[in-house]
Amino acid sequence: MNYRPFKDVQVAEVGLGTWQLGSADWGNINEEEAISILQAYADAGGNFIDTADVYGMGVSESIIGKFLQSSKKEFFVATKLGRRGDAGNGWPQNFTYDAMKRHAEESLQHLGLSQLFLEQLHCIPTAEMRSGKVFDHLRKLQQEGLIRYFGASVETSEEALICLEQEGLASLQIIFNLFRQHVAEEVFAKAKERGVALIIRVPLASGLLSGKFKEDTVFGDKDHRNYNANGEAFNTGETFSGLEFREGVGLANSIRTLLPDERMAEWAIRWILDHPEVTTVIPGASKISQVNGNVAASGLQPLSAAVHTQLRKLYDEQIHSKIRGHY
Ligand SMILES: NC(=O)c1ccc[n+]([C@@H]2O[C@H](COP(=O)([O-])OP(=O)(O)OC[C@H]3O[C@@H](n4cnc5c(N)ncnc54)[C@H](OP(=O)(O)O)[C@@H]3O)[C@@H](O)[C@H]2O)c1
Repeated sequence: MNYRPFKDVQVAEVGLGTWQLGSADWGNINEEEAISILQAYADAGGNFIDTADVYGMGVSESIIGKFLQSSKKEFFVATKLGRRGDAGNGWPQNFTYDAMKRHAEESLQHLGLSQLFLEQLHCIPTAEMRSGKVFDHLRKLQQEGLIRYFGASVETSEEALICLEQEGLASLQIIFNLFRQHVAEEVFAKAKERGVALIIRVPLASGLLSGKFKEDTVFGDKDHRNYNANGEAFNTGETFSGLEFREGVGLANSIRTLLPDERMAEWAIRWILDHPEVTTVIPGASKISQVNGNVAASGLQPLSAAVHTQLRKLYDEQIHSKIRGHY
């Protein structure tokens, strides 16, 4: 595993996304399986874990908390706030200082920590980012010692640029993958100039870029790849990067022909790591074998300039216009 600087620490360039470990939006992964996925990631040299207070309404954070207690290694856990919709919470009441402090404290409790390494805004409304009050609240939580760093997970390049104006912003989390290439031109240079870490989510377009799905693949009722396939429940971009599923299967097959060999998920992650502005990429995983495959991307040689050019041409000519939703 190779590491890249994130402020004053070195984080694994392949992190671990743990939306899957909450068992809410990806079907069922029980606690034992979840712990074994975290352990496999740690054994492979991983030290950066992304979660959120709403993943299984605290389940993902609590499992990570149990894992941290039993592990001797140092981990950098990034969580998020802003999307709670349970009793007494919701939009816009989640964006007061009191609510943000309460939500951060509950994350600390779930994780069994006294300080959060990174608290991220979790795709909150653009207007809240623009008004800037949420960042004042985050700066206050930082001064009080509840959080070491704060960042923002965003949907669009416009939101990324708004957040990059905020003093003290440590990181930006954004969707960037072979189906979403233009984000690099729109955001990366400014993030680098501002010293802001880039956390790349949905690197495999919800699994499409592993090449394992067929046009007739069916997802379970509790899997967002079923109930949000066309943006019915939340932003369409969070599922299959906004591509219509069968279209995405066809485009993934076209990408496969340009890659050096059949290790498609690894190469899809390698392509992201070939961008030096990226700090860490956070693929989710439902199996230990996936964790090991994803981490292996760190050890691959960069893709050649010729392959990068071909992948960009395919994106410009066949993919870009087919992505749905704001991004
Ligand atoms: N708004 C936000 O801030 C936000 C939104 C989305 C995600 N995230 C974060 O980003 C992380 C990553 O995004 P994501 O999980 O949505 O999408 P992703 O990483 O693109 O896809 C994860 C899925 O791809 C499949 N997969 C992973 N590795 C594989 C491999 N080596 N071979 C074959 N299949 C593989 C698995 O599917 P199966 O389950 O079918 O095995 C896995 O569940 C999340 O876990 C979460 O931490 C944040």
